[in-house]
Amino acid sequence: MEKKGGSCLEINQEKLVEEALCARQRAYVPYSHFAVGAALLCGDGTLYHGANIECASYPGTNCAERTAVFKAVSEGRRDFAAIAVVGGPEGQEPASICPPCGICRQVLREFCQDSFLVILSDGREIKTYTLGELLPCSFGPENL
Ligand code: THU
Repeated sequence: MEKKGGSCLEINQEKLVEEALCARQRAYVPYSHFAVGAALLCGDGTLYHGANIECASYPGTNCAERTAVFKAVSEGRRDFAAIAVVGGPEGQEPASICPPCGICRQVLREFCQDSFLVILSDGREIKTYTLGELLPCSFGPENL
């Protein structure tokens, strides 16, 4: 596979997808019944899990990716190498990839380099993108 990203850390993409599948088990999705899991890898190899958490007042919902980022940042982490994301109908194995929504891409942009890896799996194949590919010509902290 073509090498992407600029991290010195050796990233086991299959393992990160397994971690995201594990995180997905804790999704709270009584409204959409669409369960998403994320596994965020820090530069030192530390992992943070995230799952989507929905709210009866729907805009209060938090995506899996942002749950993972906010957990990590609130614990003092700022150095991130990659995130794996998996999602699909609750109670079923993922059958297609679950690309991060626009809001999550922008939040990742706040803390991650263009070379940060976004690892997506449909349960069979892994597709890997850089954040720069998913959010080109982006607005970030250095634009202010
Ligand atoms: N969702 C995520 O957790 N991550 C994404 O990037 C896409 C959408 C969640 C939000 C909501 O709980 C459910 O999937 C349906 O939109």
